[in-house]
Amino acid sequence: MKATKLKEGIYWVGAVDWNIRNFHGYSTEQGTSYGAYLIVDEKITLIDTVKAPFAEEMISRISDILPPETIDIIISNHVEMDHSGALPAIRKYCPNASIYTSSPAGAKGLAAHYGDYGYLPVKTGDSISIGKRTLSFVSTPMLHWPDNMVTYCPEEKILFSNDAFGQHYASTGHFDDEVDLPILLDEAKKYYGNILMCFGRQIQNVGNTLKGLDIDIIAPSHGIIWRSHIDEILKVYGLWSANEPSTGAVVVYDSMWHSTEIIAKTICEAFADQDIPAKLYDLKTNHISNIVPEVLTSKYIAVGSPTLNNQMMPSVAAFLSYLKGLSPKNREAFAFGSYGWSGQSIELVEKELEACGFHICMDRIRINYIPSEETLREIYNNVQNMSK
Ligand code: FEO
Repeated sequence: MKATKLKEGIYWVGAVDWNIRNFHGYSTEQGTSYGAYLIVDEKITLIDTVKAPFAEEMISRISDILPPETIDIIISNHVEMDHSGALPAIRKYCPNASIYTSSPAGAKGLAAHYGDYGYLPVKTGDSISIGKRTLSFVSTPMLHWPDNMVTYCPEEKILFSNDAFGQHYASTGHFDDEVDLPILLDEAKKYYGNILMCFGRQIQNVGNTLKGLDIDIIAPSHGIIWRSHIDEILKVYGLWSANEPSTGAVVVYDSMWHSTEIIAKTICEAFADQDIPAKLYDLKTNHISNIVPEVLTSKYIAVGSPTLNNQMMPSVAAFLSYLKGLSPKNREAFAFGSYGWSGQSIELVEKELEACGFHICMDRIRINYIPSEETLREIYNNVQNMSK
């Protein structure tokens, strides 16, 4: 298999995972890829590896450029196994390669996964010379594991960013000017929302550190490499991590006999008629990881559930549990639903919305059986008054 050239002597040697459709509960309809990078210098350097089942693909791409036995240095930006899984396989070719990783979490994490390979821990401000080029390290803890770091090559102006700026997007095109930009940005948004949303403050801090760097290329370890739209991806990361959406509404629900659905549609219409862009998601037909990107950029969130066995619907519970883990905060929220006799679900939904860190902006909407036209008019007016 072929390597892909980024600049003279620098190559993508990763693997494309076309058929993965679930990544820890994240629905990966576009597949993904695992980015590993080879730098040919006085010291041959490999930055990150790939998921273990793709080791042979990576080794084949490395072999397109040089024998893997000649690798002198391996940089591990991240312990998670989609990037370190092929470390044992490549190390069989180059057992004496020096392995640099973050201090102390990277060294500890790699040892726990693969045993003691004599890791060389580095921290922010450390750099190594590999010949004509230098590699500098910036620790990015909790983006999204404690060990994460990024590697910057100042002579080439390339940031090897690992998970940051990535997307789950399999493609034969490797660069942002070789794929459809709106799709790429949508996938970057989905990736940010589902993986990085809870770490906005840390991303803002890292953003400040990276501001001082001259960057020609951002080479992440998932998806497409940024070289023509760097300003766009940095700008949206700045917006997303600021976590201050000023408009937009997301209405999410499940329904048994359509009453909660009718309320949901009325709420959605009330927002839209007020020029607040609104989206409606039935949890029976939408994957929760596809709803999160809309939550990321929306000011309002309304969640509805009928009552089933004194509880909210399991689909709604799963969505709210997932959302709570992503800690979105800083949004206006309310609960709604139809019920038959006990109707506990609506209050339970409201409590979960509070646990997400949202401000409850409206009394919960709790309708017995089927909402009348008059009730729907009242809901419509209340939503409009609340969001004026
Ligand atoms: Fe793509 Fe955190 O690994």
